[in-house]
Amino acid sequence: MSDVRTGCPVSAAGSPEGARESIAFDHHDPALVTGFRETWRELAEANPLHWSTAHGGFWIVTSYEAVYRMARDADAFSSAFANGGNTIPAMPFEFGFVNMDPPEATARRRLLAARFAPDEARRWEAEARDVATAFIDRVIEGGRCDLIDDLASPVPAVLTMALIGLPLEHWRLCADANHHMNTAPPGSPLHAQAIVEMAEVEQLLIALIEHHSNATDDDGTLASLLCRATIDGEPVDRAQILNDLRLVLNGGVDTSASLLGSALQWLAEHPDRRAELRDRPELLEPACEEFLRFFTPVTAMARTCVKDNEIEGQLIRAGERVLLAFSSANADPQAFADPENVQLDRWPNRHTSFGLGPHRCLGSHFARAEFKITLEEVLKRMPDYAIDATATEQYPSFGVNQGWISLPATFTPSARLGSTFTP
Ligand code: HEM
Repeated sequence: MSDVRTGCPVSAAGSPEGARESIAFDHHDPALVTGFRETWRELAEANPLHWSTAHGGFWIVTSYEAVYRMARDADAFSSAFANGGNTIPAMPFEFGFVNMDPPEATARRRLLAARFAPDEARRWEAEARDVATAFIDRVIEGGRCDLIDDLASPVPAVLTMALIGLPLEHWRLCADANHHMNTAPPGSPLHAQAIVEMAEVEQLLIALIEHHSNATDDDGTLASLLCRATIDGEPVDRAQILNDLRLVLNGGVDTSASLLGSALQWLAEHPDRRAELRDRPELLEPACEEFLRFFTPVTAMARTCVKDNEIEGQLIRAGERVLLAFSSANADPQAFADPENVQLDRWPNRHTSFGLGPHRCLGSHFARAEFKITLEEVLKRMPDYAIDATATEQYPSFGVNQGWISLPATFTPSARLGSTFTP
């Protein structure tokens, strides 16, 4: 690809009529992991819209205003799997109602909505603390751990799997499969491995659906709920249940790990802010929103234009694909004062990190609770953790998610607290 950091456009051949310039920008390019923020800033400063010739051609949308408008307009910008879904290129698996348009998407989302309400998230906090405590207990006496492998990856995986009803002993497979699916450059060997791992996860989900389709009692899990649910008096098709559970698992596992990892890494580099956060728990709420904004775990999601539309003076034609760059919208100086700086008390904070419109994240209340509780436990129990910056590793591609594979850390050892959960 051409180096977008030089701002060097490639030939306009193949670009839609009136496109300002055409670039061969591939958001999955591993080279973009270093300097990710700067690259996107340059793109946004050059234009709110670019036409990229990568992956068959797509519009890159960088401004807050355009991302806000397009994500909310499902009539014009479709998420349907048949149109390519919500990623560029399309995922090899269908992810339930996030890959559908209203009204079908809304009907399916409604089946789960009550289980993701703020009250449910509050009720669930004790379980989240128990699981975070258990994983910290595993490493606390040794004084060293990998903040990702031992904490940021397993805690969200176990909590999401418990919600769904999946057997928890498979947490590593479920965590790895979803991390790899969201972060491997399409076409890479890791991407091929992710497809195999996701197929193994699918077998777990199929067995779970089979069990609940025949069970007489409701055990309160999402699998149990969906196997009993009806739409217009008809039971939900098993293939659709599978897709919806795959969506919840994917939505809950990788994103939360990215947010926690990025925040822990940043706080290690800013010990004064870390101490402030520990000493002023009231800061946790705005800090959570600011970490969401600044690190934007889900960097970009795609849509397909299904009705001609003018955005930022540019005609987007039906059939063209668009990439809504949430990370770029979150750094738009028109929407956020001093966007390049983390302000732990920034408020209000109308970031785009949970998406917008009909597909806005269903798990946002759970995500916030899980993040705040796990971070609180780390700040309480390993307040002096230091990361070995020479041994850290980032995701291979930030095309869908940005985050860390490895953050090796040391800290002052202390005693286990005990937990009802055994990892
Ligand atoms: C930091 C954590 C999280 C972030 C940044 C995040 C981000 C997002 C984003 C950007 C979308 C919109 C996708 C689109 O517009 O195409 C989304 C949708 C969704 N998320 Fe999350 N998510 C997080 C945590 C969770 C958790 C914990 C769960 C469940 C346990 C979850 C479940 C879902 C579901 C089911 C959808 C689809 C909603 C729909 O299509 O109606 N997410 N998430």
